[in-house]
Amino acid sequence: MILNLPDCEAAARRRLPRCLFEFIEGGSEDGVSVRANRAAFEARRLVPRVLRDTASRDQLCATLGGGWSAPFGIAPMGAAGLACFRADLALARAALAAGIPFILSGASLVSLERVLEANPQAWFQMYPSSHEPENQALLARLRAAGYGTLVVTADVPVGGNRERDVRNGYGSPLRPSFKLARDAALRPRWLLRTFLRTLGAEGMPHFENFAAGRAPMFSRTAVRQHRRDSLSWDWLASVRAQWTGRLVLKGVLAAEDAEAASRLGLDGVIVSNHGGRQLDGAAAPLDQLAAVKAASGGMAVMLDSGVRRGTDVLKALALGAEHVFVGRPFLYAAAVGGEEGVGQAIQLLRAEIDRDMALLGCVRLTEVADRLAA
Ligand code: FNR
Repeated sequence: MILNLPDCEAAARRRLPRCLFEFIEGGSEDGVSVRANRAAFEARRLVPRVLRDTASRDQLCATLGGGWSAPFGIAPMGAAGLACFRADLALARAALAAGIPFILSGASLVSLERVLEANPQAWFQMYPSSHEPENQALLARLRAAGYGTLVVTADVPVGGNRERDVRNGYGSPLRPSFKLARDAALRPRWLLRTFLRTLGAEGMPHFENFAAGRAPMFSRTAVRQHRRDSLSWDWLASVRAQWTGRLVLKGVLAAEDAEAASRLGLDGVIVSNHGGRQLDGAAAPLDQLAAVKAASGGMAVMLDSGVRRGTDVLKALALGAEHVFVGRPFLYAAAVGGEEGVGQAIQLLRAEIDRDMALLGCVRLTEVADRLAA
């Protein structure tokens, strides 16, 4: 029975080929940051106020000019289309129907134009390239498509060290192997309903939105992609100068970086350690939130990594986040139940927040600020 977001994980584990499940679930190296993300939420305590009339509570919020029905959204996840048929569209549509933000990954398997058609409020997440003409081409494409919000991910100068993926032979591009084929054969339902269905409808999956352009997901040879480890604040300043839409920096943990982003005139930052998938031992975003908030000027401060419960959302808001994003659980929900599954997972989290607001004695999200135990 799926009663909450963590339940989606157990259901997806049974549904997905092992190497794919482990790619989604995995953190880097020893998983220290994955555990730290949860521990940070679990260490905080709330202090409810009683006998407040909470009958007319709502979760409305206006992060980055949106009119959202809840203070959470769907984080960008690359290669999602392997877990669920046209996952990017399923996630985008479910988010639109629920009135929450959806961030399309720059490493997605559906074209950015098609996703914006399905959800005109979608934001786009970009993995910048050190080869500037590629970035320029992508920015032009985003402008032509009509994206209003660009999220630049800055915490992947190089790929994180995810050793389980190495052991599983799960890389980018995916090289066909006996192990992958065996993992897939052990999940005939996934093979039929996700993989073969995708092949039938779309052909071999491709990364459609890399800065470098279209690239095959399955290949025996390396995908042509330039490095990302020579980008600097000057580069971000040049993007700010030419991108007239909203600009958000994802992967910020240091107050100094939030201050630098604010000085450049960015619209927001997402405090994140990439769900513990990049630098293992990186601080939990929740523990950095207050310092980042204090340094952020007027920018929208958002957070992801480890958010699973309504109380997690409210704790992040109490510490200064305007919005939070959830990654893995929504992809698991897509793997298990497609667009409808994602919609149900969104409702579960929204119902938790609603119940928790009543239990805390809040009618508005802004009131949670003083409900955190000292
Ligand atoms: C990610 N994440 C990610 N981030 C990003 O900026 N671009 C991307 O393409 C991806 N791809 C990706 C794939 C998968 C399978 C996962 C699980 C994560 C990171 C993601 O946006 C987010 O920061 C974390 O997932 C948030 O943590 P939780 O909610 O998964 O704990």
